[in-house]
Amino acid sequence: MSFQEQLDHLFPTEEQIPGAFKLEAEVNQREYLSNGQMLPWNGEVHTVLSPVCVKTAHGLQRKIIGTYPLCDEAEASAALEAAVNAYHNGRGEWPTMGVAQRIQHVEKFTHQIIEKKQEVVKLLMWEIGKTYADSVKEFDRTIEYIHATIDALKDLDRQSSGFTMEQGIVAQIRRSPLGVVLCMGPFNYPLNETFTTLIPALIMGNTILFKPPKHGTLLFYPLLEAFKNCFPPGVVNTIYGRGNKIIPGLMQSGKINVLTLIGSSKVANELKKMHPKVNRLRAILGLDAKNAAIITAQADLKLAVQETVLGSLSFNGQRCTALKIIFVHRSLADQFLEELAAAVAKLKFGMPWQEGVSLTPLPEPHKPAYLKECLDDALAKGAKIVNENGGVTNESFVYPAIVYPVTAEMKLYTEEQFGPVVPVVPFDDLEETIQYLIESTHGQQVSIFSNNDQEVAALIDPLVNQVSRVNINCQCQRGPDVFPFTGRKDSAEGTLSVVDALRSFSIRSLVATKLNDNNKHLLNEIIDSNSSNFLSTKYLF
Ligand code: G3H
Repeated sequence: MSFQEQLDHLFPTEEQIPGAFKLEAEVNQREYLSNGQMLPWNGEVHTVLSPVCVKTAHGLQRKIIGTYPLCDEAEASAALEAAVNAYHNGRGEWPTMGVAQRIQHVEKFTHQIIEKKQEVVKLLMWEIGKTYADSVKEFDRTIEYIHATIDALKDLDRQSSGFTMEQGIVAQIRRSPLGVVLCMGPFNYPLNETFTTLIPALIMGNTILFKPPKHGTLLFYPLLEAFKNCFPPGVVNTIYGRGNKIIPGLMQSGKINVLTLIGSSKVANELKKMHPKVNRLRAILGLDAKNAAIITAQADLKLAVQETVLGSLSFNGQRCTALKIIFVHRSLADQFLEELAAAVAKLKFGMPWQEGVSLTPLPEPHKPAYLKECLDDALAKGAKIVNENGGVTNESFVYPAIVYPVTAEMKLYTEEQFGPVVPVVPFDDLEETIQYLIESTHGQQVSIFSNNDQEVAALIDPLVNQVSRVNINCQCQRGPDVFPFTGRKDSAEGTLSVVDALRSFSIRSLVATKLNDNNKHLLNEIIDSNSSNFLSTKYLF
């Protein structure tokens, strides 16, 4: 089949959707979780359109998946009050509960959500166009993350179950919660990235206000019952609606103690500024990124091509860690482009349920037009699309475009395209690549491709102070999840990893006293009688 024929046949008719991947019915959510109850919603709703189109008598139409509530400030503020009351100035059932009990609640929750795997995975695939295989991976990775978080908390608790003695003072130091956490995740990893903040925040004893992302919303609906069943009322509350309408009031209330958002630095900055007492707000943020690959004259070209394809086009380039600009030494540029174009041509495109497919339609409705704008801008300023069919679009699907030579005047040089466009920049001197990273507003990661130890070493030292992870001969990525995930400049605030997230969503508190007979006796009495959850030497296995 020719490329054009493949593109024309990309989207199915309703009948051509395989039964196993069909949604049994539209998911019309008319309730949301607040203060331990599934509250009914009779107001305005948002219609969820899939990136997957279907062929109809009236042409291609994005498939309707369902609807979700568009709540207002009133519902958001009621959910906030529920979270504030459940925290009860740190005196609530959840923030004062022992770690072992909190872990039991999270374990019960995990068992219940595992039962919803098929429903969630299917919605993930339909809502954001992620391949079925990757949707399954996202679900499984999230469950593994929760298990790892529980293990890390047990470790942390074991380390804190002893006493520290210094200069005649004895103290027990533990991590305690911060308060109400407003949690918002991104559309590209709606389940995983949301839960990598929500679960650590929750398990540390905070109470949660959780707003699902704009795309990737309905997939949380099957999980709400588990939140309701497994946590005391008000500990986890959902808010549905337009962010710009419901979030400002929450921030302006001054009652949010932690803002955790995976999204844009622009939104994060606006929200932070709305808090009346910024010093009382902790922010844990995963933000913009424009990770570069630097392919030197000493690189293994085959490997560099392979990793560039993975790094720039996995999930259509919609990863915060994606390689979004490729610097290649001029001496290798022609060969690199030829091999890269050949490798991209081998990628299978199609519907997310097709086996082996890697390029799929995009969920953000404006994205194809934005990518075209970037391509037009680059072409007008002297670049070319070097791969056959690069940039060809059919509704929500955009075929990857390799653009060369990209220069500083072009949008693609600085803007985070977050889509299937691979900008390639030739360079003569490695100093040019270092300067790019210094001048960039982003500072998440970089990938260096070279087999020359001196050259790699000369890049490592300046680059570790520009970004937070330097990858050698491999693409950028967040995992393994035990590694610190953060960024400099406009790319992040705070650090996430299984262990770091537990720290990020808590603060150390200590109980201290002068070591004398009277106080020794007092502490022993408290410990022996089990009357404090904090002051305790119980050991968690
Ligand atoms: O969107 C950003 C994700 O954290 C990237 O995770 O590198 O595992 O795809 P990943």
